[in-house]
Amino acid sequence: MAFPVVDTEYLKEIDKARRDLRALIAFKNCAPIMLRLAWHDAGTYDVSTKTGGPNGSIRNEEECSHGANNGLNIALEEVKANHPKITYADLYQLAGVVAVEVTGGPTIDFVPGRKDSNICPKEGRLPDAKRGAPHLRDIFYRMGLSDKDIVALSGGHTLGRAHPERSGFDGPWTSEPLKFDNSYFVELLKGESEGLLKLPTDKALLDDPEFRKYVELYAKDEDAFFRDYAESHKKLSELGFTPS
Ligand code: HEM
Repeated sequence: MAFPVVDTEYLKEIDKARRDLRALIAFKNCAPIMLRLAWHDAGTYDVSTKTGGPNGSIRNEEECSHGANNGLNIALEEVKANHPKITYADLYQLAGVVAVEVTGGPTIDFVPGRKDSNICPKEGRLPDAKRGAPHLRDIFYRMGLSDKDIVALSGGHTLGRAHPERSGFDGPWTSEPLKFDNSYFVELLKGESEGLLKLPTDKALLDDPEFRKYVELYAKDEDAFFRDYAESHKKLSELGFTPS
């Protein structure tokens, strides 16, 4: 499929879609799932073959039915129908950026112009929560991302919760799962807390010295977290995409 033409009209539609997404997220309290949708569309990127990435392919049943995507078959169709010019790829990444913004997180620069693809990557490109630091590096380095990106982006778990029927895990990471702040890192350093979740991949950030130094920084300095998160999220949202 072709790149969309990003002219004044397209940019105007992006602004309107941004407002619609704010309203939808406020009405449905669905910021966490919007962020997860954006991440799962983008996180399939393979820098060596330049396949996967934020290209809207997750809208296809073939990819949406991958185990890691359980619960992500949410309808953004209404927003899409109101803004047919906007590609799915742009819409999903815009939803991720808006989700972070409206829950109190940093402003993430959003550049439109992603093209849609119907080619779905094979299952297994997203991280497996039961594994450790080497696996996280395998997955994120394949995307072309760094250790700092891994830790900053894991802070996305400041939002939302796990659902037993989706992943087999249960519970939120923080006591305010609809607020984007640095509490994910504060809780991680505190250790086990009644009712709060830590995935094996979250705990791996504590055991690895290179990861841990960022966990410690972000727990004590929310500004540093917000700055690095905004940068890493932008990178994630633009994998394989060169803004024109
Ligand atoms: C939820 C794994 C990275 C954002 C989850 C869940 C798992 C998981 C198992 C629970 C799903 C469910 O039961 O509903 C992982 C692993 C990661 C990772 C292994 C590797 C580092 C990320 C990143 C982001 C993110 C990079 C975004 C920047 C979220 C959000 C939720 C979530 C917002 C909550 C969804 C909801 O409330 O429905 N993740 N994740 N995750 N993840 Fe991650």
